[in-house]
Amino acid sequence: MQISKRVQGFTESVIREMTRVVAQHGGVNLAQGMPNFPPPRELLEAAHRAIDGDFHQYAITWGTPRLRRAIADKYQKFYGMDVDPERHVTVCCGSTETMLSTLLAVLNPGDEVIIFEPFYENYGPGCIIADAQPVFVPLDPPDFTFDPDRLANAVTPRTRAVVFNSPNNPTGKVFSRAELQTIADLCLKHDLLAITDEIYEHIVFDGASHTPIATLPGMAERTITISGISKSYSVTGWRVGYAVAPADLSLGIRRAHDFVTVGAPHPLQEAAVTALQLPDAYYVKLREAYQARRDLLFGYVERAGFVAWKPRGAYYILTDAAHFLKRHGVADDTAFAMWLIENVGVATVPGSSFYAHPELGRTKIRFCFPKTDDVLRDAGERLLKLRV
Ligand SMILES: Cc1ncc(COP(=O)(O)O)c(C=O)c1O
Repeated sequence: MQISKRVQGFTESVIREMTRVVAQHGGVNLAQGMPNFPPPRELLEAAHRAIDGDFHQYAITWGTPRLRRAIADKYQKFYGMDVDPERHVTVCCGSTETMLSTLLAVLNPGDEVIIFEPFYENYGPGCIIADAQPVFVPLDPPDFTFDPDRLANAVTPRTRAVVFNSPNNPTGKVFSRAELQTIADLCLKHDLLAITDEIYEHIVFDGASHTPIATLPGMAERTITISGISKSYSVTGWRVGYAVAPADLSLGIRRAHDFVTVGAPHPLQEAAVTALQLPDAYYVKLREAYQARRDLLFGYVERAGFVAWKPRGAYYILTDAAHFLKRHGVADDTAFAMWLIENVGVATVPGSSFYAHPELGRTKIRFCFPKTDDVLRDAGERLLKLRV
């Protein structure tokens, strides 16, 4: 029996593959971006209370009223955004499903979507499921900025939206106010939507700050802001994410979401309210802790001899390993990632997983650092063996 043409092109996520291989060989897993430390105690207590309470049946499809209210209040508090929980908020199963339901809600077959490259690998299959055509605009090292002319030239009569992720996986880029304005101007000029993945909104370094493009003049009416609780509160397995969008678009997202998953886990939506109401001090500590982890791993990665770009946000370090490939006679990034597991005991993600043009990632690999210091040190000491 044949599987559908649609999914034939979906390869197993390279990240999960690396996780499996390092489990077989033994070693440190810096591939999949998930914490090895527990979530805040208040959240665990809230989840226990929710399980003991009466939250076991389907919630309202687009999210519990309490959670939608908490989301709206948080957007108001952090970014001054005027969000109506009744009309603008849709809760889904993680930001992954939120992105998929959004693409299904706003794209027609054949529509084009501009995506910055490298990109989080789920956007590719998302476009395929929505029957849309991705058009890529490069983010080039060292600062991973984009050429405004290339962005403008990517627009055609079929372009419907610009999708981007800031703070960015895998580059660690935080889009500047000027860059956001360039994207906003383009959206306004050509009547495009901005679809933004802001899942790392609270993980920014060196005094950088995150600005939702929805806060730029004229953009709230044409932006779908996607985020969730996975990364900000170290609960990637809880699967609660959300979109903030204009009322008419929210209706579409809710319709798609209803038929994709019906709803996010009810007790964990209840516990998520506690997460969103954590005091400001929580976010200060979160940033400081991640900056210290970044500095620790980045130091090792540089000393080991990688060409590395210091991230300003999110929790990944993208590197170029061209000279290692040459020295060890390894063909490409995927072979080198395997070689690193087998010879050094560190799992990473091959750079080509983040590129539609695999040649652009052929010598790159990505490390992640949502790990405790002992794990980062263990990985770092192993990497130093590469210096010999
Ligand atoms: C850019 C980006 N968006 C979304 C996700 C997934 O988020 P969620 O757990 O909310 O589905 C990830 C996870 O690594 C990510 O890196």
